[in-house]
Amino acid sequence: MYEVTLSNVNYSYGDQRVLQDITFTAEPGDFVCLLGPSGCGKSTLLRLLAGLSFPSSGGITLDGKQISGPGLDRGVVFQDYSLFPWMTAGQNIVLALEQAFPGKKKDEYRETAAGYLEMVGLADAYDKLPGLLSGGMRQRAAIARAFAINAPVLLMDEPFGALDAITRARLQDLLLQLWQQRQDERKTVFFVTHDVEEAILLANRIVVLGVNPGTIKGVFEVDLPRPRIRQELYHNQTFQTLRDRLVTVLYENILSELDAGQIVASQGDGI
Ligand SMILES: Nc1ncnc2c1ncn2[C@@H]1O[C@H](COP(=O)(O)OP(=O)(O)OP(=O)(O)O)[C@@H](O)[C@H]1O
Ligand SMILES: [Mg+2]
Repeated sequence: MYEVTLSNVNYSYGDQRVLQDITFTAEPGDFVCLLGPSGCGKSTLLRLLAGLSFPSSGGITLDGKQISGPGLDRGVVFQDYSLFPWMTAGQNIVLALEQAFPGKKKDEYRETAAGYLEMVGLADAYDKLPGLLSGGMRQRAAIARAFAINAPVLLMDEPFGALDAITRARLQDLLLQLWQQRQDERKTVFFVTHDVEEAILLANRIVVLGVNPGTIKGVFEVDLPRPRIRQELYHNQTFQTLRDRLVTVLYENILSELDAGQIVASQGDGI
């Protein structure tokens, strides 16, 4: 199981400071949800964890080692789904499996890929190019690929954003099942969402980021036993209290401005 540490991480695009002084440790097997307004740097933070960009200053370690680039120790699902458009959904997963577990028979990769596609409700999509799938289907194919390589770290950027409520609930359960399959081999998960209730359902800890620049406004422990049953959760006092605290921190400055009619959509500071 992998510990992930971020120490005084700063990141700028040109002279725009996006992330400022991010210091946080995800314990091995932690399920961390990131919440924050649009543009606060959540995707940027995930790109740093994926090794696709590097901090302007500060450091990030994975299992005690500085991140030097992308690796198969991290399964990623990004907002743009990132499937190769010239390969079918099945081939995309087979390619990832070949890289993660070299030296197996082609049929074995195909069977595993088909199995993961079936798990996310895409049994018929194996031979389809991503361009022929809906946004939600592409998202699920990317999720299937991330699950298939069975990496110790999962980085997921609003992975269930484009899905209907039932598919979303199924995939939340599947993710939790894969995460806690074995107590001694839990994945360390970073999961970005805009949905406060989804964060509480899934996470051990919730990190709330503020915007301009992106700083940590608070880290909240989710002290709720598992399995967390949705119907019961919504009536649970701890759930309600935590939800109210998160909403207050998230929308701190925005609620009063909204009430005063000072925010118009064109400002683009949506949540
Ligand atoms: N390639 C880029 N070049 C320049 N600026 C960028 C680039 N990518 C992102 N930014 C800027 O960095 C800031 C953070 O962007 P980021 O995508 O990390 O936000 P986010 O929290 O993921 O937002 P959302 O919730 O909308 O996905 C934004 O102000 C954005 O305009
Ligand atoms: Mg984003």
